[in-house]
Amino acid sequence: MAKIVVFYYTQTGQTLQIAQSVCRPLVEAGHTVIYKEIIPEQPLPYPCNGKSFFNVFPESREAIPCPVKPVDLNDAAGAGLVIIAYQVWFLSPSTPFHAFFQNPAIQQYLNGKNCITLTGCRNMWVMAHEKICSYLRNAAGKPAGNIVLQDRHPNLISVMTIIRWLFYGKKERTGLLPAAGISAGDLAHAALFGKIIGGALRSGQWSDLQEQLRAAGAARCKPSIVFMEKTGYRIFGLWAKFILRKSKNNAARRNFLLKLFKYYLFVVLYLIAPVGLIFFYLAYPFLPGKLRSRN
Ligand SMILES: Cc1cc2nc3c(=O)[nH]c(=O)nc-3n(C[C@H](O)[C@H](O)[C@H](O)COP(=O)(O)O)c2cc1C
Repeated sequence: MAKIVVFYYTQTGQTLQIAQSVCRPLVEAGHTVIYKEIIPEQPLPYPCNGKSFFNVFPESREAIPCPVKPVDLNDAAGAGLVIIAYQVWFLSPSTPFHAFFQNPAIQQYLNGKNCITLTGCRNMWVMAHEKICSYLRNAAGKPAGNIVLQDRHPNLISVMTIIRWLFYGKKERTGLLPAAGISAGDLAHAALFGKIIGGALRSGQWSDLQEQLRAAGAARCKPSIVFMEKTGYRIFGLWAKFILRKSKNNAARRNFLLKLFKYYLFVVLYLIAPVGLIFFYLAYPFLPGKLRSRN
């Protein structure tokens, strides 16, 4: 039986719930699962207000770690599998995970270990995943699989429900809006991924794990969303650099620029992105295969 170490951070509890759902069959099969929480010195509150929400933007995008409490690795030695349960903030890994991966002790720990990445996000995870993969490559960890759970409602609906959830603590459905976040059905379905991982732990065969997970629906993405995400990621990079450069040691200017970014984001989401999507769908039949495929 293997030891499985799950590193996680969560603001609302959702990421931990997903990790627990994936790990349930592994515990039932007799494996030992150890959870290690990454605890920021100043956690993003839940619910949070707009100011603290947007305040994490430049550092998330520019891979600047937030200060976190030391992670005790004493009981994590000898793990046969590491699960990294992170969240996406502004199309990038959250700042606690920049801190995690940039910690030399963690890099040493991950060296040579089979690692599964796990995230529960709204619907844009591809660029954050690429960053996580580059962190894993730097640490010489072995990426064994990737699991993504996401809100399946239309993009603009999930923007409204996530704001209601994260800003006001209201996750449940209303007469007009669906519940926010990962659905109960998808959360329960995540146990299937745990069963598949259990098979790899039994056989020691990791090379086809991602293919099996993918076939079970572990990492879906919509080409139209990836198109928006890739465009947004580039522009977010310009904004983040600009805000950091212009607001050094000037909190008032930083707040002002973050407010500008907030207005920009809503205009893009509700006015520009829908028009861009019309062009995307018109061009869709002519796009190269890779851009059109769903994985
Ligand atoms: C500041 C912030 C930015 C976020 N940005 C994104 C994003 O770019 N893409 C996305 O799919 N989800 C995004 N989310 C949703 C999170 O990835 C995650 O689903 C949600 O915050 C719940 O995670 P938790 O376990 O930390 O509570 C964001 C959440 C926060 C708080």
